[in-house]
Amino acid sequence: MGKVGFGVAVGCAVVTCAIAAVLLGRRVQSRRKWRRAVEMLQEFEEGCATSIGRLRQVVDAMAVEMHAGLASDGGSKLRMLLTFVDNLPDGNEKGTYYALDLGGTNFRVLRVQLGGRGSMILSHQVKHHPIPQELMSGTSEDLFDFIARTLKQFVEQEDDGSEQKVDEKKELGFTFSFPVRQMSVSSGILVKWTKGFSVEDAVGKDVARCLEEAMTKAGLNMQVAALVDDIVGTLALCHYYDKDTVAAVVIGTGTNACYVERTDAIIKCQGLLTSSGGTVVNMEWGNFWSSHLPRTSYDIALDDESPNSNDQGFEKMISGMYLGDIARRVLYRMAQEADIFGDDAYNLSIQFIFRTPLMAAMHEDESPDLREVRRILTENLLVRRLIVRVCDIVTRRAARLAAAGIVGILKKIGRDGSGGVASGRTKGTPRRTVVAIEGGLYAHYSMFREYLNEAVVEILGEEVAQNVVLRVSEDGSGIGAALLAAAYSSN
Ligand code: BGC
Repeated sequence: MGKVGFGVAVGCAVVTCAIAAVLLGRRVQSRRKWRRAVEMLQEFEEGCATSIGRLRQVVDAMAVEMHAGLASDGGSKLRMLLTFVDNLPDGNEKGTYYALDLGGTNFRVLRVQLGGRGSMILSHQVKHHPIPQELMSGTSEDLFDFIARTLKQFVEQEDDGSEQKVDEKKELGFTFSFPVRQMSVSSGILVKWTKGFSVEDAVGKDVARCLEEAMTKAGLNMQVAALVDDIVGTLALCHYYDKDTVAAVVIGTGTNACYVERTDAIIKCQGLLTSSGGTVVNMEWGNFWSSHLPRTSYDIALDDESPNSNDQGFEKMISGMYLGDIARRVLYRMAQEADIFGDDAYNLSIQFIFRTPLMAAMHEDESPDLREVRRILTENLLVRRLIVRVCDIVTRRAARLAAAGIVGILKKIGRDGSGGVASGRTKGTPRRTVVAIEGGLYAHYSMFREYLNEAVVEILGEEVAQNVVLRVSEDGSGIGAALLAAAYSSN
């Protein structure tokens, strides 16, 4: 071999060694990244663990906090608000009623025709309207004027004038799905906003009067016959069809629960008398808190960066507004610390970019190569699998905690098969118990629903669970409000 040949051979060997070293280095580096990502996943999974023991602690905590919230205002993070709904609609309601449902980024207007005994709901028309973003943090006057104008257009379009006299005052069920301290069934003061709304000058005002003033300004002859939270509308509608309904739960953008309580158990309102002996209590369970809730550093960061930190702790762990963002935070930290996302990491830094419906679509992607996940986030198959795992952990924890919350209510009212904390009911006398559930997470996210149903059976045991029916409710927040307007109509 000549000098040149020798030189080339040595050069090639050096280059080959360099390439091998780089490849080896990359492989080692990539293994290290994966190891870190997997470690982070395991830590997250452990932090979110909802063993049956822990769920039982949450059940007990929910029942105990319910007692505390009924004993005194401020006695618990559970507000346990009175609704003044003492009698739920029974099917005798008759006539045309309207409903206005405000509780998220959309609001809905409805017109419901009730036929009285036997004929039930004859028809209903609904129209959805998005709320312009600027109105969600503007002034209360602008918000209510906009709603009243839209309602007026709807009334004019829908009203054929055949049944109601033109000058007759129409009646409305106003669903306002934020914490409200009610003074009567048709009036109440906004305690605070949730779910991204921040129309600050409305806090402390009677929202039913704000709406009525705006309706008068808009030239609409209508009054609020019932002011209700969406959860109370859900209970009303489900009870209308099934008299064994004792509680309702909403798990959508936000979350909440209500149930029928004995008036003598509401210590903070001693002397409260109702013809039925019971009344509906709006728990505002989104604000429930217990040290038994499995909280991770991601939940803490989400709370710290939210406009209502230290509030709505349960809601931030279980509702649709937040689940996607918890998953995004986990993936973003993996992207930063384990660098497994490459350029796709950029998007993960944006808060709330990862909405819960996207997360559900990825979680429920059943194609072998996870095509949906690839479309949304990344080319890398291993990373796609990891993403699905993160979604699963977040959703499973949420669903199981919601299940524990539901059993907590059953325990408080003595329907959990254990005799109840205070009900004094005898052990082993099961009664059919229906809990209405409304909201996209339960109705449309099948993995969430399955986890929740499974956990209810796990906590209650098969025998007791047989008597508990979780019934999906649709449009309760709107139609239920119209039913309540009819039940509490002044006509
Ligand atoms: C509100 C509740 C409401 C729930 C579901 C929560 O953020 O505080 O009043 O029922 O969302 O819409």
